[in-house]
Amino acid sequence: MAEPKKLFIKTYGCQMNVYDSERMAEALGASGYVTTSAMDDADMILLNTCHIREKAAEKVYSELGRLKPLKTANPDLKIGVAGCVAQAEGAEIMRRQPLVDLVVGPQTYHRLPAMEAAVRAGGQAIDTDFPEEDKFDHLPRGPRAKRAPTAFLTVQEGCDKFCAFCVVPYTRGAEVSRPVARVLAEAEDLVARGVREITLLGQNVNAYHGAGPGGTWGLARLIRELAKIDGLARIRFTTSHPNDMEDDLIAAHGDEPKLMPYLHLPVQSGSDRILKAMARKHTAAQYLRLIERLRAARPDLLLSGDFIVGFPGETDQDFEDTLALVRAVGYGQAYSFKYSARPGTPAAERAPVPDDVASDRLQRLQALLGMQQRAAQDAMVGRDVSVLFEKRGRLAGQLVGKSDYLHAVHVTTDRAEIGQIAQVRIVKSGPNSLAGEML
Ligand code: 5AD
Ligand code: SF4
Repeated sequence: MAEPKKLFIKTYGCQMNVYDSERMAEALGASGYVTTSAMDDADMILLNTCHIREKAAEKVYSELGRLKPLKTANPDLKIGVAGCVAQAEGAEIMRRQPLVDLVVGPQTYHRLPAMEAAVRAGGQAIDTDFPEEDKFDHLPRGPRAKRAPTAFLTVQEGCDKFCAFCVVPYTRGAEVSRPVARVLAEAEDLVARGVREITLLGQNVNAYHGAGPGGTWGLARLIRELAKIDGLARIRFTTSHPNDMEDDLIAAHGDEPKLMPYLHLPVQSGSDRILKAMARKHTAAQYLRLIERLRAARPDLLLSGDFIVGFPGETDQDFEDTLALVRAVGYGQAYSFKYSARPGTPAAERAPVPDDVASDRLQRLQALLGMQQRAAQDAMVGRDVSVLFEKRGRLAGQLVGKSDYLHAVHVTTDRAEIGQIAQVRIVKSGPNSLAGEML
């Protein structure tokens, strides 16, 4: 038998890319590839890129430049660029960096085996279509190998919201939901391989509207159906838009025990003026009201969010409004970013906030969010939580897992193993994790 070819994938950006990289590895598995963690050993290198912030494209070009010696050493090495930079730049990538053999956008990974064959035959391959078919349908299922106890499952892709700062509607295209039956089949397969926790992924996951028995299903109905799978213990989903938080989904946080008490619900800004300029289509008060309703359904819900500071036109008062909203919500965890103009988006045309002002605001916001995160962690001390063990810790006999609230928890025990869910009492709060004892 021929020696398997080796595939190295470097993944940038979001969890959707992590999921896509796994699926690309499976697709190329059918062409005789196994994955390697050593770049200089690879027959094919794929960069799965992200375009959401900063000089993403520039980073990809400099990474590609660094691959040159590898290509010189091994002329058979094939180099591909996948993901959102591939979608945004297209053939420009090969013009600027001729060592690239293959450019594939996020919607056409199922075509990778054919593209790989074309580049092996000495050609170049480029595909940045938005095809009608579901890219995941065409991907081969891997062998029923055992898996880590947590997994991602993409249920929805793309976005129709067109927030003024965001490239996603351009790189990932229009909102598409995978049919219910496909999602359930994939979930059952994951559980059969030992997965206990599934995180449903979508750029706008709570806008899910998949074709299912009896018509179109929303996310809450999908979650309730997934919850019936024996062996599946935990369900999460990310990322959501406040305007798609429907009543049944709010209710599910209160009455579906497998749905974990953690919600990532980005608001971006606390200023109505800026929310309007961002085309978010809701006010700060509406967001706060939504949080109230979620907490009425699930009082211990831990909230996470995304924030952008320095959006064009943001004044000191607008920024103070953001701080006020953060104080009003009390986040358990959050991401915050300095606005970065994305070519082709409406906001990129507007006059930027001076960089030093934006940097200063980011620092202040991160200080506040950091304090809230620490307070939420400290508040866990003395509480009993369930922990799904995911891996061994650095110390002997130590296991590391995640609590229901997504906090990392270390436990020293010989009474548990990876993949098990245990009741744990939190005894200590550290900078990035909690320490617990088995109950
Ligand atoms: N500049 C800064 N942050 C951005 N995000 C999206 N686009 C931009 C941009 N142009 C942030 C938003 C989004 C998260 C995934 O990335 O906060 O929720
Ligand atoms: Fe981008 Fe999210 Fe807005 Fe869609 S809803 S445009 S993915 S920020």
